[in-house]
Amino acid sequence: MGMGIESFCLVVFGMSLIFSCLCLGKAGNVSMKARTEQSCCNMFEGSWVYDDSYPLYDSLACPHIRKEFDCLKYGRPDHHYLKYRWQPNECDLPRFDGQDFLRRFMGKKIMFIGDSVSLNHWQSLVCLLHSVVPQSNITRETNNDTTTTFTFQDYGVSVTIFHSLYLVDIDLEEIGRVLKLNSLKNGDVWKNYDILIFNTWLWWYRKGIKQPWDYIQEGDTIYKDMDRMSAFRKGLETWAKWVDSDINPEKTEVFFQGISPSHYNGTEWDEPGVTNCLKETVPINGSTYPSGLPPATTVVKEVLNNVSNPVYLLDITTLSQLRKDAHPAIYSGIGGMDCTHWCVAGLPDTWNQLLYAALI
Ligand SMILES: *[C@@H]1O[C@H](CO)[C@@H](O)[C@H](O)[C@H]1NC(C)=O
Ligand SMILES: *[C@@H]1O[C@H](CO)[C@@H](O)[C@H](O)[C@H]1NC(C)=O
Ligand SMILES: *[C@@H]1O[C@H](CO)[C@@H](O)[C@H](O)[C@H]1NC(C)=O
Ligand SMILES: *[C@@H]1O[C@H](CO)[C@@H](O)[C@H](O)[C@H]1NC(C)=O
Ligand SMILES: *[C@@H]1O[C@H](CO)[C@@H](O)[C@H](O)[C@H]1NC(C)=O
Ligand SMILES: *[C@@H]1O[C@H](CO)[C@@H](O)[C@H](O)[C@H]1NC(C)=O
Repeated sequence: MGMGIESFCLVVFGMSLIFSCLCLGKAGNVSMKARTEQSCCNMFEGSWVYDDSYPLYDSLACPHIRKEFDCLKYGRPDHHYLKYRWQPNECDLPRFDGQDFLRRFMGKKIMFIGDSVSLNHWQSLVCLLHSVVPQSNITRETNNDTTTTFTFQDYGVSVTIFHSLYLVDIDLEEIGRVLKLNSLKNGDVWKNYDILIFNTWLWWYRKGIKQPWDYIQEGDTIYKDMDRMSAFRKGLETWAKWVDSDINPEKTEVFFQGISPSHYNGTEWDEPGVTNCLKETVPINGSTYPSGLPPATTVVKEVLNNVSNPVYLLDITTLSQLRKDAHPAIYSGIGGMDCTHWCVAGLPDTWNQLLYAALI
């Protein structure tokens, strides 16, 4: 703080610092707007600017991208989507420095926990790091389809994905598969890591054959179904209680990735009648998304506000809403129209840049 030359802020929840800012000073020569204690920089407010020095790596040279996200390989014809840089209104983000990341977090274990959006986020970090040390010893290990870990052996840095759709448990019982809103058994694995990045949202409204449970349990009561937003809140509260009871903040830093938006409804971005992202090649100009934030973001903020241990919200919702151009659409190896996930390289690199800025 003392140097105060270049400052980055992030919203910190808990410890009664509700919506207040934490400014991290860093030496450098950056012309900066005058600021008061109240007006420090929120990294998540800004706009997308075209920058010819992007992308940060060539996705065709990253051997670890799954076919779901490998847009260039599967023929995406327009490449401008790779060239945008997130520019906060009040400060500059540090450029992602993979060498610095590996040295700084030497010996650390990083884990992403969540659904396929976490997988997307994780793949981007693996490629960002791979791109700076492509010749080094990188090992890959998969366990039970639940976790996959890439270890950068020369640095002892490991980056793991833990597949969990709801964070809370689904147990197979006599009556069928039960989504248990009050139970979070995998926490015993998670708490041994140094940096945790959680996410859950995509699956809470899934119904029919896409719904991976038959009943939903709260306390001792079993329901056939319930209001999905309130189920999401209850599940997240269970996670929040676990953060407070089981996380040692001296050892483990906890992040929660905000809601990742999809683009199937053009009315949201003032193109009524558009029902997917196929023809989108440029981001939305400016800092606001016409239809505003999805309601789930309120639940996330309310629940995180109630956590005592520090949890950093990677508040990526608005900046991702502006990127209607950043989805695979039909340019993936799985067919269909995907306006939910994101191309790698692409938007998730910015999520990792924000994670890096928050960590350093
Ligand atoms: C700081 O940056 C400004 C503009 O980028 C430049 O004019 C100035 O010479 C720099 N000062 C130092 C001490 O490097
Ligand atoms: C890479 O690291 C692993 C684990 O330390 C080791 O078993 C393996 O021999 C190394 N491979 C190379 C090519 O150095
Ligand atoms: C992985 O599989 C083994 C053997 O089936 C099982 O004992 C273990 O609990 C599983 N681990 C996880 C995290 O699911
Ligand atoms: C599309 O978005 C608009 C504006 O947010 C909303 O009013 C409408 O209900 C949405 N349509 C669908 C099919 O979700
Ligand atoms: C985006 O907004 C800026 C500033 O308002 C303007 O100069 C630019 O022309 C706009 N670009 C597009 C594509 O609308
Ligand atoms: C906040 O946490 C307390 C203690 O765990 C709990 O009793 C309360 O219901 C929570 N409130 C909200 C809004 O989550």
